[in-house]
Amino acid sequence: MSNAASIQTTMMRLAEVYGAASEPFLEGQARRLGEALGLFERLYGPGPVDVFRAPGRVNLIGEHTDYNHGYVMPMALDKDILLLVRPREDGLVRLQNVETAFEARVFQIGPDIPPRPAGDWANYAQGAAQLLAREWGPTLKGFDGLVDGRPPWGVPRGSGLSSSSALTVAVAMALVALNRLPLSGPRLADACGRAEWYVGTRGGIMDQFISILAQRDHALFLDCRPRTPSGEYYYEQVPIPPGYRVVVVDSRTKHLNTGPLFNRRVAEGRIGVRLLQRAYPHITHLRDVGDIPWEDLEPLLPEVITAEALRAQGIDPVAILEAGRDPETDVFFVRRRCRHVWYENRRVLESVRALQRRDTATFGALISAAHASARDDYEISTPAIEALVEAAQAAPGCLGARITGAGWGGCIVALVEAGAVADFEHFVKEAYRARTGLEAEAFICRSAPGAGRIFSTTL
Ligand code: GLA
Repeated sequence: MSNAASIQTTMMRLAEVYGAASEPFLEGQARRLGEALGLFERLYGPGPVDVFRAPGRVNLIGEHTDYNHGYVMPMALDKDILLLVRPREDGLVRLQNVETAFEARVFQIGPDIPPRPAGDWANYAQGAAQLLAREWGPTLKGFDGLVDGRPPWGVPRGSGLSSSSALTVAVAMALVALNRLPLSGPRLADACGRAEWYVGTRGGIMDQFISILAQRDHALFLDCRPRTPSGEYYYEQVPIPPGYRVVVVDSRTKHLNTGPLFNRRVAEGRIGVRLLQRAYPHITHLRDVGDIPWEDLEPLLPEVITAEALRAQGIDPVAILEAGRDPETDVFFVRRRCRHVWYENRRVLESVRALQRRDTATFGALISAAHASARDDYEISTPAIEALVEAAQAAPGCLGARITGAGWGGCIVALVEAGAVADFEHFVKEAYRARTGLEAEAFICRSAPGAGRIFSTTL
């Protein structure tokens, strides 16, 4: 094929993947792919290569509900991670990154891969490989790989947009494809969720599900309670009404180590369940009390309780998390955390109904209500995020805005009238700068389809 014809074919393939994106967007993606393929050849020599991509996500509503078996509604971004791979005959994974700040890593696939220090980028790949080795046999074959998550096409890191899950998903998909494992869709997403516990946080399944099951221009409504032990879930694609845009604004602030804070929230929900089980013995997760009026539940949950008081009641707040994870606190705010989860689940269900009847005003109001709950009851906001959310809620064309992702910094998400996006961005950035001296970064979420192999060639 001539060079021009091959560029044409690449552009057509990228248009298929990213949809009716603009010319400059597709040209940029083609350049990105070309550069990554060139670097792959320099690193690993000529031969075949497969390119996998996995998108990041923005969560529209349903925060900190997934690990309580509740409801979520995220949407995939067109910002993703590319993973270029060439199969190996042995069980080694050699990983390089186009960004030299991420040093090369090598590991052997197996059921007990020693984790690297917390924060090391290879832990996400190792977590995926270990989980697959445990569940599909230790003799999986590895690959030589190159990761490309560079801005502006990559998922912004540490911003609550799930760059880490995108890496886990891309590595898992590559290993599944190269080893021809019969694992895809919800079962693969469920496996990727468990794979990520390897890094030390006890998160849910939202990020991995949306990265794998996303459809263009749709949010994903997901019920995080498995329907069967083999990993079947209820989910539904929910179209975003025409005439509105989902805008993500990055506060450019991040909390360095959110792991213990996150695990503490998980522990508080589980403590709530243990206390509620006295009145409702059948329940296993907070989601199970969704039909009981909150007023009946609230008196059963202390506003705050110490570890000592819990132990006296036979509840060990450390053992309540899986081995090796410590909530690192002696005080638990059980009532308000459970209240957030209880109302947040309702808000997600109401949001789905509102979107189905294209009632964006109600959906916007639910988004803003979710923020108030995340701030006051779940306490995951920060002063910078408050400045941003307040600015967004007051900005032209905005129907609702909230913090998105795990919290403690990162991004907010807003529903904005399509015609007002430019004014919205301008207003929010100015107001944020005036209040904090910081520069926010905004982009429209152009949703992309879920992860997969997008390209195969021989170098
Ligand atoms: C992180 C976790 C998710 C979810 C969110 C909060 O992104 O990985 O599973 O719990 O936080 O909604």
